[in-house]
Amino acid sequence: MPEEWATFGTDLHLSISRPGVRVSLERALRTAVQDGRLRPGVRLPSSRSLASDLNVARNTVAEVYAQLAAEGWLTARRGSGTAVSAQVATSDGPAPEIPPYEQESLLPYDLRPGTPNVLAFPRGAWLSAARAALTNAPPDAFGYDHILGRPELRHALAEYLGRVRAVRTTPDRIVIAAGTVHSLSMLCTALKRRGASTIAFEAYGWHALVAAARMQGLRTVTINVDGAGARVDELYATNADAVLLTPAHQFPTGYALSAERRRAVAQWARATGGLIIEDDYDGEFRYDRQPVGALQELAPDRVAYLGTTSKSLAPGLRLAWAVLPADLVESVRKVKKATVWSSDAVQQLTLNEFIRSGAYDRHVRRSRLVYRRRRDRLVLARDHRAPDVPFTGTPAGLHVVMTLPDRLAAHTDDELCDLAASRGLAVHGLTTYRIAAGRDDHPSLVVGYGTPADHAFEPALDILFGLLAPR
Ligand SMILES: Cc1ncc(COP(=O)(O)O)c(C=O)c1O
Repeated sequence: MPEEWATFGTDLHLSISRPGVRVSLERALRTAVQDGRLRPGVRLPSSRSLASDLNVARNTVAEVYAQLAAEGWLTARRGSGTAVSAQVATSDGPAPEIPPYEQESLLPYDLRPGTPNVLAFPRGAWLSAARAALTNAPPDAFGYDHILGRPELRHALAEYLGRVRAVRTTPDRIVIAAGTVHSLSMLCTALKRRGASTIAFEAYGWHALVAAARMQGLRTVTINVDGAGARVDELYATNADAVLLTPAHQFPTGYALSAERRRAVAQWARATGGLIIEDDYDGEFRYDRQPVGALQELAPDRVAYLGTTSKSLAPGLRLAWAVLPADLVESVRKVKKATVWSSDAVQQLTLNEFIRSGAYDRHVRRSRLVYRRRRDRLVLARDHRAPDVPFTGTPAGLHVVMTLPDRLAAHTDDELCDLAASRGLAVHGLTTYRIAAGRDDHPSLVVGYGTPADHAFEPALDILFGLLAPR
């Protein structure tokens, strides 16, 4: 018995079988009302339009509406059409109440690391880029092609990353992803399929990345972090097949991987066949120190370089890229094809326009200035109000680590964060980012200065230093 489906209103499917259209339409509508899919008060399409959707005679629909109205499921009023009756009993009693949508209530001030000031998202410039992208999109943008990502964007990124981060690549080695977590997940699956079992992480980092690697079935180990970045010499003892590093600005401690260790980790990768996964999450934001280029430049065949728009534009875009060693491209392409297939073509073409028009550079330069000023205000506030609180990680990125002095030793960093929350400020302790188990950290706070709206930044600092200043 062939079945026909009509999409109805916003999201209702009616299954109609032929022959017996009248009976099956009546049954389908009655069931939809009974089980609450058609809620009391919802207007039904006119008999003419439903008849045309279903390819049945208009009279058939009119008769079904009349029958269901007679049974009390529908009400028909001249001039205002047919609607589901206001008081119908559904099969499980009345349809469940859907509470009105309410935005999650957050603390008024937020100094957690991780998110840029999304209020500064360049809506106008993005809209222009989106309009140009949609206007100029080639027909194949609306099809199934290009698993790795739109070729236009991969070209633009190859040029941009070479110019700004000294990444050495060609477009055919770039894959577009929905964020760093997605890039890493695809890589881990590809590595696992090639027989890898273990991946090393820095002892402090972002748990989401560790979780992604574990989800793909890899064992995770850690290497320590000190003032020169990750202790890459420890890799030899781990037997890791890969290591994830944040060389430009260790997350969250803020140190840059020293030149000596950059060479050493490239040597480890060559000697063992290991893969370095370089997470360059905030590489565009450097302030006082010499630009630190990508580690990828030292060993393009042993480094998978991961970049993202999550700090430079907004995490909500879910737009990121991985620059792969040539021998990993096909494996990652297969993983992407078997999971998400490809990425949103319009978003990719928008980013392409945004980069090519110079809007991306302008936005990054403007943001860098704003964040640098914020960083300076944070340092100034510390100098005035709590000069005995040392910082690390100030020359780059969107956060610093503040080591708590002994006079605050009565508190763990978690307790201090709870105290801050009770005054309306969200902030995280270093322990939140501890990946290696069982370390005894000196209590420290990871203070992000990217997130607050401009008007909220000073009040947030006020609360922070109200807690940290000597009494
Ligand atoms: C260390 C690190 N890498 C990468 C990212 C960005 O991840 P995504 O691109 O998935 O938003 C973050 C976000 O906070 C991060 O902390």
